[in-house]
Amino acid sequence: MISTPRLHLWSLERHDLMKNYHWANQRQLIRWTGMHPFPKTAGELERWYDGLSSRQDMKIFAIKTKEGEYLGNIELRDIDHLVGRAEMGIFLADPESRGQGYGREALRGLVEFSFGDLRLHRLYARILEHNQAAQKAFLACDFEIEGRERQAHYDQWRHWDVLCYGLLAPEWKEKHHATH
Ligand SMILES: CC(C)(COP(=O)(O)OP(=O)(O)OC[C@H]1O[C@@H](n2cnc3c(N)ncnc32)[C@H](O)[C@@H]1OP(=O)(O)O)[C@@H](O)C(=O)NCCC(=O)NCCS
Repeated sequence: MISTPRLHLWSLERHDLMKNYHWANQRQLIRWTGMHPFPKTAGELERWYDGLSSRQDMKIFAIKTKEGEYLGNIELRDIDHLVGRAEMGIFLADPESRGQGYGREALRGLVEFSFGDLRLHRLYARILEHNQAAQKAFLACDFEIEGRERQAHYDQWRHWDVLCYGLLAPEWKEKHHATH
């Protein structure tokens, strides 16, 4: 478990799956995250979960308040231990839980864990051009914009650009672990 002032990031448990089943079928959440739009079955979610334990390239955490409320997930994917890089993804499922700083708090917790404990060197995120909240949350965690994939995503009758944000371990260390 990873702890931040208000949150615990728990390794995703099987008993978390039913909430994920509902979230993975929420059209608006699918739009923000860029998930595949096909409706998911409970069986697909179970098989996906069964496959997770053997994967070295992916780790998913349930974001829960210290009081136990399950808010959403945060993950590392395409983890490359040779290069030391991984992509980050996050969502808070209920719009009511957004805009209270939980997103950036969870991101900071996982960034600290990724650089400090996993010894990763580079974290990056791919964010849809219209997703202002996600861009602000990653910027608040010291990510920098690195590029733009033009029309790399399709949703609702049009293509959207995808913005690439990145953060390197030395940059994070300099800001948060400066030794004077
Ligand atoms: C992206 C997300 C995780 C950010 O978490 P959060 O807890 O809402 O973020 P924060 O409270 O730290 O706020 C981030 C900033 O975005 C702003 N913001 C929140 N909702 C916004 C919206 N709908 N439009 C524009 N800005 C918004 C906040 O005011 C804050 O700005 P500030 O830094 O100027 O104060 C969350 O909004 C979410 O889950 N969104 C849906 C899924 C998603 O988009 N995932 C990201 C895929 S890459």
